[in-house]
Amino acid sequence: MMALQGVRNFTRRDQVFNFMIDSDQLVPDTSKGMILYVEDLSVSFDGFKAINDLNLYIREGELRCIIGPNGAGKTTLMDIITGKTRPDHGSVYFGQDIDLLQYSEPEIARIGIGRKFQKPTVFEQHSVFENLELAMAANKRVWPTLTAKITPEQVDRIDEILLQAGLMEMKFADASLLSHGQKQWLEIAMLVMQQPRLLLVDEPVAGMTHQEMDKTAELLQSLAGEHSVVVVEHDMDFVRSIASEVTVLHQGSVLAEGTMDEVQANPEVVSVYLGE
Ligand SMILES: Nc1ncnc2c1ncn2[C@@H]1O[C@H](COP(=O)(O)OP(=O)(O)OP(=O)(O)O)[C@@H](O)[C@H]1O
Ligand SMILES: [Mg+2]
Repeated sequence: MMALQGVRNFTRRDQVFNFMIDSDQLVPDTSKGMILYVEDLSVSFDGFKAINDLNLYIREGELRCIIGPNGAGKTTLMDIITGKTRPDHGSVYFGQDIDLLQYSEPEIARIGIGRKFQKPTVFEQHSVFENLELAMAANKRVWPTLTAKITPEQVDRIDEILLQAGLMEMKFADASLLSHGQKQWLEIAMLVMQQPRLLLVDEPVAGMTHQEMDKTAELLQSLAGEHSVVVVEHDMDFVRSIASEVTVLHQGSVLAEGTMDEVQANPEVVSVYLGE
């Protein structure tokens, strides 16, 4: 302790702070064009193989849809990527170099993987703007500058995401006044404020109107490119409207991959899932 203070003039608070910055500053090596490598992944719950020798690769900036019947392992896969569930074997790498299995759930979030659960969890008593401000404060990469007053650049950043998420006219409204769809977009926007490289979104359009689904497709498409986005969804019209590459999971493994047309023409996919 004394030695550290002597060398870098640390205070106790700085040390805690520096520790927090560490996982923030890990930058995945995506020089091969891949942001996520999942290989030979398996996990069992009471002898039941929820994930079974699964291999999945996500390219940097792509928008991937994952579909599959109930119990196929889609949510469990997200649980493993985000550090919520530990696999029995296999590997999960963020870029070529970051072994995600070595990090805790909060560290993985700070490394740059944002996850959206099905139920929106916005701060109802705060305005839309305040929700985004709070999300920004939770990002340790911008926290040092958010001590006293939000900067004009940060206000611009919030306005940018408000426009992108179609929430500009609700900027100063309490989040409790938002529709179900608008709450989902706000939550996605809050995740984006934390500048994740990879966004995992589980069943975003459940309970949405068709119009809201179209806007959600548009929002997720606009986020791809700058971010890599993985969407789990059951609604086939929605998946088709996103028109991205589709991975079909079945019994914890990848059954098929390709465009929506390709997987829909696959007899195995039809018999286990789409034919229902
Ligand atoms: N923590 C857990 N403990 C025990 N069993 C679990 C656990 N998590 C998932 N399972 C089981 O693993 C299997 C895969 O579940 P998972 O939630 O990943 O499926 P899913 O593809 O997301 O399904 P859905 O489309 O219904 O959301 C299911 O049989 C589920 O009951
Ligand atoms: Mg699920």
